[in-house]
Amino acid sequence: MLTGNLFMGPERMVFGRGVVHDTGTYVRQLGGEKVFLVTDKLLAGLDAFKVIIDSLEKEGLKYYLYTDCDVNPTDNQIDNGCRIYKKEGCDVIIGVGGGSNLDTAKSIGIIATNPGSIRDNFVPNYVTNPYDTPNKNAIPPTIMIPTTAGTGSDVGCWTVVTNTAENYKGFCGGWMCMPKVALLDPEMTVSMPPKLTAATGYDALIHAFEAYYHRYKMPLTDMYAISAIRRIFNYLGRAVANGSDMEAREQMLLGATEAGLAMNTGCALIHSSGLQLTSKFGLSHGETLAIMAGPVIRFNTMACVERMIDVARAMGENVEGLGKLEAADRAAVAMQKFARSVGLLTTLNKKEHDPAKIKVMAEIALQNDNTYGNPRIPKAEELETLYRQAYDDYQA
Ligand SMILES: [Fe+2]
Repeated sequence: MLTGNLFMGPERMVFGRGVVHDTGTYVRQLGGEKVFLVTDKLLAGLDAFKVIIDSLEKEGLKYYLYTDCDVNPTDNQIDNGCRIYKKEGCDVIIGVGGGSNLDTAKSIGIIATNPGSIRDNFVPNYVTNPYDTPNKNAIPPTIMIPTTAGTGSDVGCWTVVTNTAENYKGFCGGWMCMPKVALLDPEMTVSMPPKLTAATGYDALIHAFEAYYHRYKMPLTDMYAISAIRRIFNYLGRAVANGSDMEAREQMLLGATEAGLAMNTGCALIHSSGLQLTSKFGLSHGETLAIMAGPVIRFNTMACVERMIDVARAMGENVEGLGKLEAADRAAVAMQKFARSVGLLTTLNKKEHDPAKIKVMAEIALQNDNTYGNPRIPKAEELETLYRQAYDDYQA
């Protein structure tokens, strides 16, 4: 078994306005002849997407346009996508979109080069050993083109897929699932509406925050995490307020990329507890993080006081003259204030979100790998308390 901290990223990350105009050139450089182009139906109809098609055609490349992407990619979709990939004789994969589309593209790649269904390729305990994955062969050369600034999937080696047979969301991927090229073009993110901009941007912020105090943190992830926190804090509000603010869009895409690289650590308890709010109440990923951030950060503080103070500073809090614990608490305060400033809710309410589900949510969250990346591992009762603290009447 291999040991040590693993830090990975795509071979090339190309950043700048208009870089997707060169997509065809990158496919040629990867030795491709026929592209499996993965996106969703909505994006496929946009002018921004046509730029990618034009670039492929300009290089004389063939392509198959695959648009069967959903918010939550399922094992059946991935298996079916791979059948088409093979039947069409494709040799390069391009994913265009938010995290779900990019995960679909990479997941299809996993079973293009590894035997069995994607169901045979779920990874247990991925955080503890990123080398130890059931898939052994590298995915086909893959290009990622994100259209949101949040997910980090474009610079990461993991995918999230729903296992429909056993009804859970699991991780696939590992070292062999890293894309070759990430084309990070801020112009591709301009069509995002304000609410999606806020939710995906806050997701990126939490990726960076959880990386900064993660059990598997390392100097390389620290560097990206703290820079991402600063950048997202400074620019997300502007991107939400005015989607055409290109400086804000550029900085947000850069911040999300830094956060994605910081996430070489994996995620932690804000993610694993938030995931249950999606499955039980249908809340979006970004919303769940805004709700769980306050309680979880305060729960974690005793394990990483100095790091909480660093985060509070990075988010503009004045901690001079405060005691250490008071200064550290400013990280939780800042995270909640910031979420509300971009229009995200930070609480649950008993009318819409039945507290009777707390017990089962805590049980499932305790089994999630991300929980074990947290600097403080909760007991079941402690996790139940964190969910209770997420209700508005508790906080009032
Ligand atoms: Fe996330």
